Amino acid sequence: MIVGCPKEIKNNENRVALTPAGVLELKKRGHHVYVQETAGLGSGYSDAEYVDAGAEMLPTIEDVYGKSEMIVKVKEPIEPEYELVRDDQLLFTYFHFASSAPLTKAMIKSNAVCLAYETVELADRSLPLLVPMSEVAGRMSIQEGAKFLEKPMGGKGILLGGVPGTRRASVIILGGGVVGTQAAYMAAGLGADVTILDISLNRLRYLSQVMPANVSTLYSNEYNIRNLITTADLIVGAVLIPGAKAPSLITRDMLKDMQPGTVLVDVAVDQGGCIETCKPTTHEDPAFVIDDVVHYCVANMPGAVPFTSTVALTNATLPYVLKLAGLGWKEACANDASLAKGLNVVNGKVVYAGVAEAFDLPLEAI
Ligand SMILES: NC(=O)c1ccc[n+]([C@@H]2O[C@H](COP(=O)([O-])OP(=O)(O)OC[C@H]3O[C@@H](n4cnc5c(N)ncnc54)[C@H](O)[C@@H]3O)[C@@H](O)[C@H]2O)c1
Repeated sequence: MIVGCPKEIKNNENRVALTPAGVLELKKRGHHVYVQETAGLGSGYSDAEYVDAGAEMLPTIEDVYGKSEMIVKVKEPIEPEYELVRDDQLLFTYFHFASSAPLTKAMIKSNAVCLAYETVELADRSLPLLVPMSEVAGRMSIQEGAKFLEKPMGGKGILLGGVPGTRRASVIILGGGVVGTQAAYMAAGLGADVTILDISLNRLRYLSQVMPANVSTLYSNEYNIRNLITTADLIVGAVLIPGAKAPSLITRDMLKDMQPGTVLVDVAVDQGGCIETCKPTTHEDPAFVIDDVVHYCVANMPGAVPFTSTVALTNATLPYVLKLAGLGWKEACANDASLAKGLNVVNGKVVYAGVAEAFDLPLEAI
């Protein structure tokens, strides 16, 4: 198959969908790979490395879309790309269709086959192409939280692990899923006193077995949360209720019970946030202060660490890319029910229930 990897054009997106390692695997299997010039630079890969791995570099995004049967990307196509997508072309990328009517309309019109990373789903209902980004965001939440706890950044001025003879910082993590677990490991590793709250007792049981001694688990309810926030230094929001807006576990009235300089990092902000006063921010201006409490609410945290995020993402996507290139989308999806769940829009038809419902469109069979 002819596989194309364009340079991402969304603002501040430095990830790339294929690394030279991915190109090498595709070439070994006899595929032809086009990569747009400088596509990998933001993630640390030079054009020369792609050429060494067997890619053919193309100067423009139009060339890549024009010559490829399958396009592998990171973010959803944005407006200037809509016209480049061709009839029957296979696109494998994050789409998040339900949040964009113009994108959905454009992809229906293109007659392309749109396979979305975010809806590829394993039998246990986990989302293998979302997990790596949650891992990155979870780990980053502590790094960012530690930074904003510094006095010049608006925080209390406390070091997460303290030093001998001082108290350790108290880190509260709401939600013990992928984000919460990675956040807890990082905070514990830096020596903080960590408490993870979740409503799943099974999850709390698991966490209490695998976490180091400076991590405690606690059932998540309003009473426990109100008690903890009065002495917390850093609070991480990592709650998810699939398919729904995150519940507001920290409400506006609770801010007055926190100490000045407390830092809130709401990772769940992309699903509406679990801290009522959080509003999405960007890496240019990541934090704001309400009632002396610092709020960090960047909606695409992994974008700040493309060297890590690109490798984490492509480790998870490459096996599917190889399958799609080897078998074509029809046979690959027929053989792999998890991958088939990624099909959202196929040759002008909406085939994913969530997208059809979001825009009141008919749900059609493939
Ligand atoms: N901002 C970013 O850049 C970024 C990046 C990746 C993921 N995220 C977001 O982070 C959030 C968490 O993702 P995840 O992969 O960890 O999800 P997950 O499904 O692995 O974990 C969510 C956890 O929340 C728990 N939960 C549900 N209701 C709760 C409650 N009332 N109190 C405490 N816990 C509760 C669940 O039991 C589950 O363990 C999602 O909204 C995801 O979209 C954001």
